[in-house]
Amino acid sequence: RVVVLDFGGQYNQLIARRIRDLGVFSELLPPTTTAAELKQINPKGIVFSGGPNSVYDENSPKCDPEIFNLGIPVFGICYGMQMIAHHFGANVSRASKREYGKAEMEIVSDSALFKGLDTKQTVWMSHSDVVVEPPANFQVDGKTHSAPVAAMSNPAENIYAVQFHPEVQHSVNGNEMIKHFLYDVCGCSGDWSMGTFIEDSVRAIREQVGDKKVLCALSGGVDSSVVAALIHKAVGDQLTCMFVDHGLLRKGEAESVVETFGKNFKMNLVKIDARERFLSKLAGVSDPEQKRKIIGVEFIRVFEEESAKFGDHEFLGQGTLYTDIIESGTATAHTIKSHHNVGGLPEDMKMQLVEPLNTLFKDEVRKVGEELGLPADIVWRQPFPGPGLAIRVIGEVTEAKLEIVRESDAILREEIKKAGLDREIWQYFTALPDFKSVGVMGDVRTYAYTVGIRAVTSIDGMTADWARIPYDVLEKISTRIVNEVDGVNRVVYDVTSKPPSTIEWE
Ligand code: XMP
Repeated sequence: RVVVLDFGGQYNQLIARRIRDLGVFSELLPPTTTAAELKQINPKGIVFSGGPNSVYDENSPKCDPEIFNLGIPVFGICYGMQMIAHHFGANVSRASKREYGKAEMEIVSDSALFKGLDTKQTVWMSHSDVVVEPPANFQVDGKTHSAPVAAMSNPAENIYAVQFHPEVQHSVNGNEMIKHFLYDVCGCSGDWSMGTFIEDSVRAIREQVGDKKVLCALSGGVDSSVVAALIHKAVGDQLTCMFVDHGLLRKGEAESVVETFGKNFKMNLVKIDARERFLSKLAGVSDPEQKRKIIGVEFIRVFEEESAKFGDHEFLGQGTLYTDIIESGTATAHTIKSHHNVGGLPEDMKMQLVEPLNTLFKDEVRKVGEELGLPADIVWRQPFPGPGLAIRVIGEVTEAKLEIVRESDAILREEIKKAGLDREIWQYFTALPDFKSVGVMGDVRTYAYTVGIRAVTSIDGMTADWARIPYDVLEKISTRIVNEVDGVNRVVYDVTSKPPSTIEWE
């Protein structure tokens, strides 16, 4: 494996992703990870990511200097390169102007990173500081018109660094460069795959859990289903799956989950009806973060109470994804929203978490699901957030509002499926804003709710674009919602991408 130390750059998750796509397992670790910890993990290579800081900022994160004495190859990217230069005593200076976007780099050495590449390379720059001269024992490998050291290395020590971002697609041969680092410098074989991931996870779960009991929160979505299948593969009957109906599910969902799991899994499945409990806790609460936190805490409380009825469970299995962790804010990244299964966990939680998917993106989870032989309707189910319809009813959650979302969402799903768009559109649902507007129905004035349709294309949920649903399909959906759902007189379509919006409205 290769470890990426996360110095807070916006493309960091992409670095880890590119490395995995090249058949090498990689994970992001905090910048404070020590040389001793890394020695334990014993990675074949260490990548220092980009980041928003200047090495001269007083509080800028710096790696443990002992890392350079581990004898493990190092690859610094952007801020990572400046940190390396700074550490070895070179001068890093503020560029007269920021360089942002495409740049032409000239390769001026026979660096292992650039093997077989033309001397002119298009690369993606995003920085304000530059390394003016390389440190002693380092050679210049590439330059652009505004960065005299756009790439440098100390091949004897296996330290490589680039000022640009090889992980973004705009660096045309960036992938080749990462590949050379992994295969030629680190000696990785590139044979890691989802199959290896499954074997490794099963082993890790066995180690973590021992002969103790695990409770798994099953929602019927792909993440929790894959987690349940993985944990079951690892520890068999030590696993009990619990499906909590919190009253915030889509129409028909509770029934279909119980039916699907009865058929496809030979696992203990317990269904809990907690509808009353969640709704009463949410009564009168309209702040989105507070709603998320309440649901997170309530989830855990329900599990703790219910699991006690089945004997002690020391572990709780969760389908937390890498995306959830990033967006809930890491040591270096900002909080966007508290995903219920990360930021919303109570501090005094009694069970320990088993989260085998927390290094994966959604599409990778689907691959694992297929590899584990899960049925297609589970593997390809559109993502559904843990807090459910509570974050699609904007403001205070009431049963009447939930009913509007449930019914309108069912119509949307039916029509999208009929139009054959259900695989193409990554996620589609309705949301209910907290306002009414005037309309006219059968010559009578109405004052009723507006339903918003949200439909996006995406690969991993980190970024998304609004789906170009054909007008005639939208027309059909809108007509049906207004005619069939009580209390609605207007339908709008959300045409914002993520960023600047997010997929869910709360
Ligand atoms: P956002 O709204 O952050 O959503 O653009 C990205 C993806 O994550 C889902 N989502 C969640 N999933 N717990 C989850 O399990 C949550 O708290 C949560 N919030 C958002 C969302 O549906 C989308 O697929």
